[in-house]
This record gives sequence, C-alpha cells and structure tokens, in this order.
Amino acid sequence: MKKLFIKLLSAVFILSVLALLLGTVPSSVTAAADGAQIYKKQCKKCHGKKAEGKRQKKNPEKYKYAPLIKLSQQELLESLLKYQQMWNKKSWENKIEKKMAKATKKLDEAKIKALSEFIVTLK
Ligand code: HEC
Repeated sequence: MKKLFIKLLSAVFILSVLALLLGTVPSSVTAAADGAQIYKKQCKKCHGKKAEGKRQKKNPEKYKYAPLIKLSQQELLESLLKYQQMWNKKSWENKIEKKMAKATKKLDEAKIKALSEFIVTLK
C-alpha cells in the first residue's frame, strides 16, 4: 500500500515538473522556431534551404537570388525592413527589387526579427 502511494506521488511530481517546463519555454526558442517556419514557407524557394542563394543558369558567376548567409543578424533585419518599406511605398526600381519587396508583404516586425535570428543559424 505504501509503495503504491509513493509511486503515485512520484508520478504527480514528474507531471508537475513537465508542465512547468512546457509552460516556461524561453521566448527566444519559440522565436527561432517561428523564424524557421516562416523561412521554409516564404523564403526557401528563392534563397535555398541553407540560405546559400541561387546562381544564374546562363551566368553562374552571378546570383539569381542572393545568398543570405554572409549577412549579420543586424544586416538582415535592416535589409528586410528596407524591402518592406519599399513594398509599402511601391518604390522599387526594377523587377528584381520588386520580387524581394513583395516577399516581405506578409511579415511584421516580430516576424522579421525571428527570421533574422533564424537565418544566422544556417551558417
Ligand atoms: C521570389 C523570390 C524571393 C523570395 C520568395 C524571397 N526573396 Fe529575398 N531576394 C530575392 C531577390 C531577387 C533578391 C535580390 C534583390 C535586389 O537585388 O535588390 C533578394 C534579396 C534579399 C536580401 C538582401 C540580400 C543582400 O545581399 O543584400 C535579403 C536579406 C532577403 N532577400 C531575404 C529574404 C527573406 C528573409 C525572405 C522570406 C521572407 C525572402 N528573401 C524571400 C528574391 C526572393
């Protein structure tokens, strides 16, 4: 009887610890997960799985889609905000800029931050 009580007690204890852990996942972890998700859905098709970019078929020295791994988190952040502003003001100068500007259409500042945090982890 006593043994069963101890088993029950430890089960309750383990479950409480689990609940505590699940409730307190740091926001940086969720932000990274979020960034990974957005990248996969909205960026990967052009910039590649590892943000390595895509070269032009006819002229492989040049990129069709820029690699992103060389950029710092701050540079990514600023770049994305710039393209978003470009989209909002419809102020792109060519088709290439327009393509990237449009890609920021569905983002907000939190998503842009999460993306910048995620992309630097692809290095
Ligand atoms: C339709 C294809 C396409 C998609 C989708 C796309 N991009 Fe781009 N991206 C481009 C092109 C093309 C450029 C180069 C634009 C230029 O020369 O101004 C670019 C440039 C960039 C740059 C600047 C690179 C540099 O060296 O300055 C960043 C940062 C960037 N993209 C991030 C992203 C992120 C993050 C996403 C997902 C939200 C994304 N892109 C989705 C096509 C795309």
